[in-house]
Amino acid sequence: RPAPGTTVPFTPTAPLGPTPNAAGDVAFPDGFLWGAATAAYQIEGAARTDGRTDSIWDAFARVPGAVALGHDGAVACDHYHRYRDDVALMRSLHLGTYRFSTSWARVRPDGGAPNPAGLAFYDRLVDELLAADILPWVTLYHWDLPQALEDAGGWPNRDTAYLFADYAMTVHDALADRVRVWTTLNEPWCSSFLSYTGGEHAPGRMSREDGVAAAHHLLLGHGLATAAISEVDPDAVVGLTVNLTVPDPADPDDPADVAAAAKHDAMFNRTFLDPVLRGAYPADVREWLAPYGLDDLVKDGDLEIISTPIDALGVNYYNGSCLAGSPEEVDTTMTVQAGGVRDDEDADERTTLPPTPAPEGIWWRSRGLPRTAMGWEIQPEGLTRLLTRLHEDYTGPRGIALYVTENGAAFDDQPDESGFVDDTADRLAYIDAHLRAVKDAIDAGADVRGYFAWSLLDNFEWAHGYTKRFGIVRTDYETQERTVKASGRWYGDVARTNVVPA
Ligand code: NOJ
Repeated sequence: RPAPGTTVPFTPTAPLGPTPNAAGDVAFPDGFLWGAATAAYQIEGAARTDGRTDSIWDAFARVPGAVALGHDGAVACDHYHRYRDDVALMRSLHLGTYRFSTSWARVRPDGGAPNPAGLAFYDRLVDELLAADILPWVTLYHWDLPQALEDAGGWPNRDTAYLFADYAMTVHDALADRVRVWTTLNEPWCSSFLSYTGGEHAPGRMSREDGVAAAHHLLLGHGLATAAISEVDPDAVVGLTVNLTVPDPADPDDPADVAAAAKHDAMFNRTFLDPVLRGAYPADVREWLAPYGLDDLVKDGDLEIISTPIDALGVNYYNGSCLAGSPEEVDTTMTVQAGGVRDDEDADERTTLPPTPAPEGIWWRSRGLPRTAMGWEIQPEGLTRLLTRLHEDYTGPRGIALYVTENGAAFDDQPDESGFVDDTADRLAYIDAHLRAVKDAIDAGADVRGYFAWSLLDNFEWAHGYTKRFGIVRTDYETQERTVKASGRWYGDVARTNVVPA
């Protein structure tokens, strides 16, 4: 496999399309990295322990109606106290790597001075992982901004980007002797538009201008942190994780549908990919975001910082999207998935595509595919197309490796008396199909080097609280007992053998 920094020309070696090998064993390349992912607020709990203070999610969860059933992350999976058992569980599943995030409000409470007691938790966790032969993969920001920094303006305040880079270096300095892979941000689309425009996620603001400012400053923070880490630690693998989709026109022969798909691609995918990987906001993105202040936000030199070279691009993929230029047969389920719609004055507007300051004329259309418990349509072949597109258009020519940093599904699990969940027919099948899609992309030439199941454990699913279960391991929230599901047993075998079995 080419080292980071090498140019890899895109040479498809197999036709794309329906998975040809769905029935057989599929062997992955030697060295392919198998992992599972989590995030601090979703699993740690211990919200007030060892000096941790509120993040925006602690505060948001106290807003009536913000989170389903009034749930919050105060205890979550109590991973803060159970991390040793959880690492042993990972080892039993033969995981080669574990992607977790550090909590800014634990490491630098209120966004202020470093907190040795908070950092010590990550020290212990990293040591435990290494002792179990599991590569620690650290995400520095998975949505939990210290509330004190939100009170100071949050991500729409440019200062937050610089404070993020300082915090990133605090974590780096504490762990870099053992942690070699760093992800700056997880899904900046969510922590900007879904959070500051759609109001669905913390801090629950509903302003188009704030969403745009948050997006630009998150990107700036990513660039500043990447540059700072790379300067002191040139051998570290640094990157970011983006949530991407495959936008298809409902009717490829209808120019309005084709335009709708292109607009969705701009807002959802290219707003983040292009500044980081091409050093510029695309012309259509600039045009759409100009009324909300983008040009004033972008200072001289910002795009150079944002496009500081990275080594790895993390891709979170859950579903594709089918877009139409007219409102007939709107898929309202997927519209909600696209983000909050609470900034619309008219409830009927739930059929448009906020929270991104959406260009006019985009509507979601159902493909009639089976859905997960989130209402998301299951479309594995979209992952093949996404990865090959990224390799061809963005990462391959720059020698950047691709990792699927999240993929998985929520279903309404029915545990038996022992707590075991037989999710063979849904979650296992979902992961199986998506792994085959990853292998198709590799066969087509994409440089994909690893896959992380979302998630290791059932956990706090943001605005859905604990009502949606994504784990390959069941969490009993009463007893904190963990029970490996059928999908987890199966995935552990995949990780052990490097083969997706027939
Ligand atoms: C993306 C996010 O990174 C993660 O936190 C979330 O739980 C999953 N998607 C599922 O929605």
